[in-house]
Amino acid sequence: MNYFSYQNGVLSAESVSLETLAREVGTPFYCYSSETLTLHYKVFSEAVPKDSLIAFSVKANGNLAVLKTLGDLGAGADVVSGGELKKARAAGIPAERIVFSGVGKTRAEMKLALSERIYQFNVESEPELELLNIVALEMKTCAPVCVRINPDVDAKTHAKITTGTAETKFGIPFVHAREIYKKAASLKGIEIVGVDVHIGSQITDLEPFGAAFARVAELVKDLRIDGHAISRLDLGGGLGVPYERNNEPPPDPEAYGRIVKHATATLGCRLVFEPGRLIAANAGVLVSEVIYVKQGDAKTFLIIDAGMNDLIRPAMYDAYHEIVPVREPAPGAPRIAYDVVGPVCETSDLFAADRSLPQLKSGDLVAILTAGAYGATMSSAYNARPPAPEVLVKGDEWGIVRARQDHDDLIARDHLPGWLTS
Ligand code: LLP
Repeated sequence: MNYFSYQNGVLSAESVSLETLAREVGTPFYCYSSETLTLHYKVFSEAVPKDSLIAFSVKANGNLAVLKTLGDLGAGADVVSGGELKKARAAGIPAERIVFSGVGKTRAEMKLALSERIYQFNVESEPELELLNIVALEMKTCAPVCVRINPDVDAKTHAKITTGTAETKFGIPFVHAREIYKKAASLKGIEIVGVDVHIGSQITDLEPFGAAFARVAELVKDLRIDGHAISRLDLGGGLGVPYERNNEPPPDPEAYGRIVKHATATLGCRLVFEPGRLIAANAGVLVSEVIYVKQGDAKTFLIIDAGMNDLIRPAMYDAYHEIVPVREPAPGAPRIAYDVVGPVCETSDLFAADRSLPQLKSGDLVAILTAGAYGATMSSAYNARPPAPEVLVKGDEWGIVRARQDHDDLIARDHLPGWLTS
């Protein structure tokens, strides 16, 4: 469910026409809907046990206004860098709702997180555990730790976003879990608080979740037998969203919640979740203008002013995104199979191949849907193209929540060393 719909023939975010926004802001731009973010957060939080911490995964959408919208609803943040931690704090998310994941936390990031007194570190390796212990002791404090366990479960998602199998860099292999907890218990700067698992992203089948949660639930029991105080269970994120209108939609949060409750009901742990895509993906669109329609020998190219630097998912994961005209097409309007491409000088700058769309012309607007997660956060200035700005809508109000950089900003980031200026 989302709040993008045609109103008076124009695609709108809540009550704001995307045509109006394009005129005011210029194209391309991201547009997010507050009501959709809110709805998704509420649906998820109602599906899982009441006192759970829902730590929105900042990597999915790190815009301060998005983070504040969610934080005001009670969300925490799942961060993977000092930068994300600072953004979450800057958006007003209290430290006691922040969890820090990731395989490569540096000493400086640990110091920052310890000084902020975040809720928990999800530790992914023995060397990380050792360094965290040292840093905590230096700071005369103790780090609350969940160890991320790699349950060796195949999430059956795209290879580039699967994390729970033995071949990936993530977590501690399940078979070594009890050893690392034993080690953690011997370190004075570490306080064991729970267990963490995250098996991948855009997961559309509940079975791998069920298998992974059952494994970690068993582990919780074993760790308690070993004498560890396990009071939290972080079940990560990963629930998929519908990208393709004609595909069967992925399981809804209620069904996911039932799997969670089934696996964890008797454990008495506070649960932590790290959803990203589920909350943000369908709360955002990327609006772009058609620059040219180019007739090739084999294809008709719709060349739009958004590029792979703005939204890299199709190029990187062969991801499918619906593309719709901003002006509602008349019923039965003639359709053409387009290759929808950006201006970037790469063959992979292709948003959709052979996509049947109503006939379009230069100057028309299109919206690339389900772009609110891993869109703007993965954008770059490749080809010296400043990434698309971001707009947040609420009802009939809207605001630019990240401005478009101009070329001078881009140029000003580079500096000439002395020998090139003399
Ligand atoms: N927690 C951890 C430890 C993660 O690594 C991730 C995502 C999440 C939570 C949030 O997962 P979600 O609920 O959003 O599925 N760029 C890729 C997705 C990469 C996901 C990385 N980790 C894409 O555009 O599909």
